[in-house]
Amino acid sequence: MTTRIQPMIEEAPLLARVTEMAAQIAPRLEPEPIILGLFKGGFVFTADLMRALSRHGVRPRMDFMVLSSYGKGMESSGEVRVKLDCSEDLNGRQVLLLDDILDSGNTLAFAVAHLRARGAREVLTAVLLDKPERRQVAFHADYVGFTIPNAFVVGYGIDYAERFRELPYVAVVTQTDGP
Ligand code: IMP
Ligand code: MG
Repeated sequence: MTTRIQPMIEEAPLLARVTEMAAQIAPRLEPEPIILGLFKGGFVFTADLMRALSRHGVRPRMDFMVLSSYGKGMESSGEVRVKLDCSEDLNGRQVLLLDDILDSGNTLAFAVAHLRARGAREVLTAVLLDKPERRQVAFHADYVGFTIPNAFVVGYGIDYAERFRELPYVAVVTQTDGP
């Protein structure tokens, strides 16, 4: 099997879109929201969006959560677990929850319910990529960077079996027989 990587969204349009998203999101945020990124896939999007939001005067508390739903392959198991919880006190707080990809919807549906159960007053969600064709549970993100077709993608923090997170662009992965 040969793994092929084909660029889908280059670095410049990615950063331009993140800048636009920050301009859309900032007016909805209180001055000191909690920005909560989902590790590992969401870390690059979180890093770029938080800096774009700072240009709009947003002064967040930053935190990360680790959830697991994917195994090592390309399919979601559907069962989401908290591997590392948010360490902030969420009571009465506004949370901006960030993830790389909205796919089946299991991860974000679970995460929003979990944060509300921990006392968050409002949970806004933003994802870099949305694959609506793949949805298993009804879930809409408040902010979406790019809507993409049903393809497995990597780069900009997103992995395939822990590889390719370092790519500065988003690429499609295909497996082919032969060299
Ligand atoms: P969901 O729970 O099915 O919505 O999946 C969301 C998570 O699955 C994302 O946070 C990603 O980490 C992972 N995921 C979904 N699609 C892809 C993909 O195309 N490439 C790599 N990871 C993906
Ligand atoms: Mg993820």
